[in-house]
Amino acid sequence: MPRTALVTGAGSGIGQTCAELLQSQGYEVIGVDLHGADIDADLRDPASIKAMVDAVEQHHTSIDALVANAGVSTSSPLDLEVNYYGAIDSITALLPLLQRSASPRVAITASAASLQRTDAELVDTLLHGTREEALDYGAKLQQAGKAAGYGNYSASKRAVVTWMRQVAITEAFAGHGIAINAVAPGVVKTPMTEQLLATKEGAEMAFGAMPAPLNGAAEPSAIAAVLAFLVSEANASMTGQVLYVDGGFDCSTPQGRGADIWHDPKHLDA
Ligand SMILES: NC(=O)c1ccc[n+]([C@@H]2O[C@H](COP(=O)([O-])OP(=O)(O)OC[C@H]3O[C@@H](n4cnc5c(N)ncnc54)[C@H](O)[C@@H]3O)[C@@H](O)[C@H]2O)c1
Repeated sequence: MPRTALVTGAGSGIGQTCAELLQSQGYEVIGVDLHGADIDADLRDPASIKAMVDAVEQHHTSIDALVANAGVSTSSPLDLEVNYYGAIDSITALLPLLQRSASPRVAITASAASLQRTDAELVDTLLHGTREEALDYGAKLQQAGKAAGYGNYSASKRAVVTWMRQVAITEAFAGHGIAINAVAPGVVKTPMTEQLLATKEGAEMAFGAMPAPLNGAAEPSAIAAVLAFLVSEANASMTGQVLYVDGGFDCSTPQGRGADIWHDPKHLDA
């Protein structure tokens, strides 16, 4: 039996490349996107997510791999709705189908933006508050200007990886053998970054905020390869991890975490 994979945001960029890669590896792939996919769904809308699950269940009793990849970068509360609520709501709604697989795996496309300075109160509201409170807070950030508005994107990604690490070890995931991990790309050449990277100033801004000394902007295939590994049976024991596929951004200081992520300011020193 081929493994079945559901990929959100499969109509463009990283999701499209990942769907094609999984298909070439023998997966039966169900692509989900706003328009023109195997299943059209708006992941901002819980009713649309429910309709997506119903559509999957018409042909499948289980899914083996879920790539929660759909995302936007708008510096508005839309980032919260798609990147955070869209991801966690669709993963949660698909849990029963994943739990019926013999080797279920979930991979989230997060972002190296999860390491950037962000609005801690917004992250906390996403994780512990109501959706309405978070969206109101995000709207206020947007009104406060471009830099503050970007907090919607970075907070959406910080919150989604924090949620991922919290749920990874729970009964619903680890208890059912579901490995869940995230890939955190740096700057990737996709329609999302096309305009930004088209000008010298835009590219300088992108790499000033997110240096990639290894080889600059990544191809979507570089991210897709890691997502495909994470949802494969070859990923036998890794769960709750965020893999920074970022050309070296995480190692850089002061933007990333630098060389030593184990000591200062952590609690590992005696
Ligand atoms: N491109 C980058 O530099 C970069 C860097 C880090 C992380 N990411 C993340 O990678 C993921 C994929 O982005 P990409 O660069 O391939 O962008 P993209 O714009 O090419 O693709 C995103 C896809 O998500 C879909 N989508 C958006 N809103 C949706 C919704 N409400 N419901 C269903 N589908 C929706 C879009 O229609 C599109 O097909 C995103 O989560 C993004 O945040 C991208």
